[in-house]
Amino acid sequence: MSDLKKLFIKTYGCQMNVYDSERMAEAMAPEGYVTTENAGEADLVLLNTCHIREKAGDKLYSDLGRLRALKDAKPDMKIGVAGCIAQAEGAEIIRRVPMVDLVVGPQAYHRLPALVRGADSPVDTDFPVESKFDLLPARKGLRGPTAFLTVQEGCDKFCAFCVVPYTRGAEVSRPVERVLAEARGLVERGVKDLTLLGQNVNAYHGTQNGADVGLAQLIDALAKIDGLERLRYTTSHPNDMADDLIEAHGTQPKLMPYLHLPVQSGSDRILKAMNRKHTAESYLRLIERFRAARPDILLTSDFIVGFPGETDADFEATLALIRQVGFGMAYSFKYSARPGTPAAEKPELPTEVADARLQTLQALVTQQQRAAQDAMVGRMCHVLYEKAGRMEGQMVGKSDHLMAVHVTDAKGQVGDLVRVQVTGASTNSLAAVPVV
Ligand code: 5AD
Ligand code: SF4
Repeated sequence: MSDLKKLFIKTYGCQMNVYDSERMAEAMAPEGYVTTENAGEADLVLLNTCHIREKAGDKLYSDLGRLRALKDAKPDMKIGVAGCIAQAEGAEIIRRVPMVDLVVGPQAYHRLPALVRGADSPVDTDFPVESKFDLLPARKGLRGPTAFLTVQEGCDKFCAFCVVPYTRGAEVSRPVERVLAEARGLVERGVKDLTLLGQNVNAYHGTQNGADVGLAQLIDALAKIDGLERLRYTTSHPNDMADDLIEAHGTQPKLMPYLHLPVQSGSDRILKAMNRKHTAESYLRLIERFRAARPDILLTSDFIVGFPGETDADFEATLALIRQVGFGMAYSFKYSARPGTPAAEKPELPTEVADARLQTLQALVTQQQRAAQDAMVGRMCHVLYEKAGRMEGQMVGKSDHLMAVHVTDAKGQVGDLVRVQVTGASTNSLAAVPVV
């Protein structure tokens, strides 16, 4: 076993990077690499980077600075930079930090083994014609009960603030059969809960026997897999919501009552400047339709505060939208200019203004999150156990609404899907007992 090599991967950013890191580890397994949690003992260190928000680049370069000591102690350690900064900066990373051995963009992960062997040029940020998904080796071995599965990648929306269309490229959907095969493989390995990933997942348009298949049909096909109990999808754009997808929330029992639907702002003026191509009103109408299909659906969203030109009135409109919807949770960010995006040309707001708005927005969202959690007390739901809790006889997992739940259950096993009654709530988790 001594010729086994160790791979350490640090993942920054979104769920798609989590998925990609897992697939990179699998791509390196046939090369004799096993993963380690300890960068110091690694033969190969991969930093799977994110470029979407502020300071991502600073974080990468300070992490690389820290790795220098490890590399000095272990000179044959290889260091690779993957992900969206790799895509955006390419060879510039090696020019800046010459100890970096390879740079690989998100579309070229299947070429990682060759890059590591040194068989290819050390920088691969192509958007190759062959699909990385099909060339990566199949997954093996048992795993936890939840998994991500990328079904769509890239984005053609070009929101004025966002780097994704540049780093992840144009929208591409995976064929239905490939998605089904990967899902079946995951279920055989113990997965019961699957989150379908895509930067624009509801724009999914795969093919099956020559026919076009949308996300709702893909979900129906996946729901037929025995042993697969729960499905979710993320992230969606309000303009790509098909009628049958909304309907599926009322008719497909395996589709969980949960939707992440970023709105970014509640001001039509700012939405226009962001090139979002929807209005606050059209978003609210859409939410009404989801609630009509599935009254208990939990809604979450993303917000950007301090976009160039945002006035107090614009920000108030965002708060008004939040009050109107009532979110179960939301991610909120202070706008940060991303080089190369149209919004980066515009003058920025004073930091103090953006900071204050972010605080106000987060306080409101936290209140709503707390209310959504409190509203669960006394209700029944299902929890899929992901791990043992810190307390004796306690299991931890997610509810149908993706809330974290601590269940007092001495007989519980990881992978059990258990009906529970909620007995208590805090902002971030619920307490519950099994219902027999
Ligand atoms: N500044 C701040 N937040 C951003 N996001 C994307 N780009 C930026 C940016 N330049 C946020 C959006 C998106 C989420 C994934 O990250 O809210 O939905
Ligand atoms: Fe970025 Fe999402 Fe807009 Fe695409 S839809 S450009 S991924 S924010």
